[in-house]
Amino acid sequence: SGGAPGAATQLGFTPVARTTADTVTVPPGYTAQVLYAGGDPLGADVPAFRNDGSDEQWGRRAGDHHDGIEWFGLDAQNQPSGSFTSRGLLAMNHEATTDEKLSSFFIHANGGTATLPRPAAEIDKELMIHGISVVEVRRDGRRWATQPASPYNRRITTLSEAIFTGPAAGSAHLATKYSPNGTKGRGTVNNCGTGKTPWGTLVSGEENWYGYFFRDAQDDARRNDPKITAAFKRYGRNAGAASRHGWESGGSDDRFQRWNTGATGASAREDYRNEFHTFGYVVELDPYNPNTLLTKRTALGRFAHENVSFAKPVAGQPVVAYMGCDARGEYIYKFVSAEKWDPADANPRNRLAAGDKYLDAGALYVARFNADGSGEWLELSPKNPAISGFKGFDFKTQADVCVFTRLAADAAGATKMDRPEWTGVNPKNGEVYITLTNNSARTEATVDAANPRTYSDMKGSKEQKGNVHGHIVRLAEATPAEATFRWDIYLFASEADADKANINLSNLSDQNDLSSPDGLVFSPATGICWIETDDGAYTDKTNCMLLAALPGQVGDGGARTVKSGNKDVTTHVGKPQTPATLRRFLVGPKGAEITGITETPDGRAIFVNIQHAGENTKMADVGDPAKYESRWPSSAGYGAGQRPRSATVVITKNDGGVIGT
Ligand code: FEO
Ligand code: CA
Ligand code: CA
Ligand code: CA
Repeated sequence: SGGAPGAATQLGFTPVARTTADTVTVPPGYTAQVLYAGGDPLGADVPAFRNDGSDEQWGRRAGDHHDGIEWFGLDAQNQPSGSFTSRGLLAMNHEATTDEKLSSFFIHANGGTATLPRPAAEIDKELMIHGISVVEVRRDGRRWATQPASPYNRRITTLSEAIFTGPAAGSAHLATKYSPNGTKGRGTVNNCGTGKTPWGTLVSGEENWYGYFFRDAQDDARRNDPKITAAFKRYGRNAGAASRHGWESGGSDDRFQRWNTGATGASAREDYRNEFHTFGYVVELDPYNPNTLLTKRTALGRFAHENVSFAKPVAGQPVVAYMGCDARGEYIYKFVSAEKWDPADANPRNRLAAGDKYLDAGALYVARFNADGSGEWLELSPKNPAISGFKGFDFKTQADVCVFTRLAADAAGATKMDRPEWTGVNPKNGEVYITLTNNSARTEATVDAANPRTYSDMKGSKEQKGNVHGHIVRLAEATPAEATFRWDIYLFASEADADKANINLSNLSDQNDLSSPDGLVFSPATGICWIETDDGAYTDKTNCMLLAALPGQVGDGGARTVKSGNKDVTTHVGKPQTPATLRRFLVGPKGAEITGITETPDGRAIFVNIQHAGENTKMADVGDPAKYESRWPSSAGYGAGQRPRSATVVITKNDGGVIGT
C-alpha cells in the first residue's frame, strides 16, 4: 500500500532472506533498477562505456567504488508533501578501486602492471577514477535515467583544485610546492561517507587517504623531528611504507611525486613533504554550482573521516555535526559551530559562504564513554591542559590540533572504539547513532562498557576473533551543543544462531541478522533507520545487505552483564529486536558492500550504492569472465562488457508508495 510521507510506525515489507545470489534482491512488490555505474558518461559527447579496459576520458565519467550518496532536488523544494519528485542531482563519493598488487585491474585492458615502476598512462587513469561525482537524474513514470548532457554533471578527482579554510588554512603544516602559503590543496581521495549540510551542500570524508602515500626508509632520519615522525606513525605511515598503487613511481612530474613523502627540496615550499597533511579532512562541495571549488574544512579535524551527520538546526543555536574515525581503536568526534543558526541560511544565495560561516570556526570535541552510561565531550584545543601539556606533540595553536587531531584526542583521554563508521541523527528525538563496524584487535584486556564484546565466531572453517560482527552505539544529549550525554548500545550485530547470552545480545533472527554495520542513514520522509553492511564475518553465508529499523530510545533495554572471555562486563543495551523493529530489505551481489543510501524527499525512490561487486576476482583472471566472482550489473542487463562495476541502483515500490512502509 502507498501511504503518505511521515513517521513510519511499522515496516510494511516482506523480509528478504540471506542469499549469496549474484544479484540485487529486494522484497516482493519492489523493483531495483541499475541507474549509474562506474564509467558511465557525464557528457553528451563522451562515448558509451565499453567496459573492456580501453575506455578513456575518466575525468568525464562516473568514478569507481560508489560510496556515500546524497540527493539534491531540482524541483522538490516547493512541492507539497506527498507529490512524486521527478528531478534532482545525485552527488556521491568514488572511494577507491578494485585492486590487487598495486593495479586497478578491471580498468586496464590487460589487468595493468603489478610491479614498480608503474606506467604513467595507467596511473593517470587511476588518478581520475577517485573522487566525487555529481549527476543529474530524472524520472519518467517509475523509470529513472541519468542526463549525460546536464550542465550540473561534474567530476572532482585527485587533481581538482581545492581550497583550505578554518584554523589550519595558511599554516606551515600545509605549505607545499603547489601552494607555498598553505591555502590550497589538490584533489581529494578515498572519500567514504557523505552528509548534507543544513544549507544544501555535500560534505564528504577523506578516509583511508594515508595508504596512497609512499614513505621511503630514510624519511624518519631525513626529517630529524621525532614528534612529526611519531605523527606519521599515528596516521598509519611508518618509514618504509609502500603505497597502495605506486602512484609515486610514474615519473618526475609533480602529479606523481606528490604521493612521495620523502621528496627533497630545499624547504617545504619547494617539495611535497607536507602533502600528507593536506588529506584527511571533511570536504564540502556545492553540487548546484559547478563553478565553485572543493573546500577542505580543517576545523572538523584530520583523521580517517567516514561521514558527517548534522543535528536538526535550531534558530539561535549552534550548528552541530557528528563524525567517526574509522580505524581500530579510534574515536567519535563532534563539531559545534561558533555562529548560531539563522534559518534564512537554509536556502542561501551563496552556499559555500554559509559553509564558511558555520564550519570554519567552532569547537571540536572527542567522546569519552563512562561505565555508568554517561559520557563526556572533551574539547580538542590548546586551552585543554591535557592537550597543551601533552608530551607527545607540541600543541600550540588550533591549527596544530586540526592537523594532528588523533594525537590531540589521545592526549584528551577519549575512548577507543570498535571502528567508528557512519553517524546518523534520529529525526524523531535527536539521538545520535554511530556504527562500530567490528574490531579484530579488541581483547579481553581492552573490553569496556561501550565496547563490551570479544568472542570467537566462525567464518566457514576460519575462526574470527575480537568484536567480530560490530555494534551500534547511540547517544542522547539534552541539547546538541551539550558537553555530556547518556549512551547505550542500540544493536549488537550477530549471526542468528550465535550464543544469546554473550554474542547475539539483540535477539537477532533469520529475518534481521547481520554482520559489520557501516552505512547508517535516517530517512527524513519516514524516520526509518537504514543500516548497511560491509563484508564482515558473514560473507560465507550471505552477501552484504541493507536493513530497515524502527529504533526506540537510549536506555530502553537497561543494564546487562556479558562475558567477554573470562571477564564480566556490564554494559547498557537497547531493547531486544524483533522483525517488527528490524528487518532485511535488500541483499547485494557477490563481493559487494552496500555503501551509501539517499532518497527523494517524498520517500518514493531510494538510491543505494553497490560498491566493489566481484572484488575477490583474481587479477590473473581479468580476461576470463567465467572466473569473475561477480558479473553484476551486466548480469542484470546493464551496460556493455562483463567486468563487474560499482553502481547506484534506484528502488521503487511497484504501487508507487513510500519505501519501507
Ligand atoms: Fe570506507 Fe569506513 O568505510
Ligand atoms: Ca563505509
Ligand atoms: Ca567498512
Ligand atoms: Ca568500502
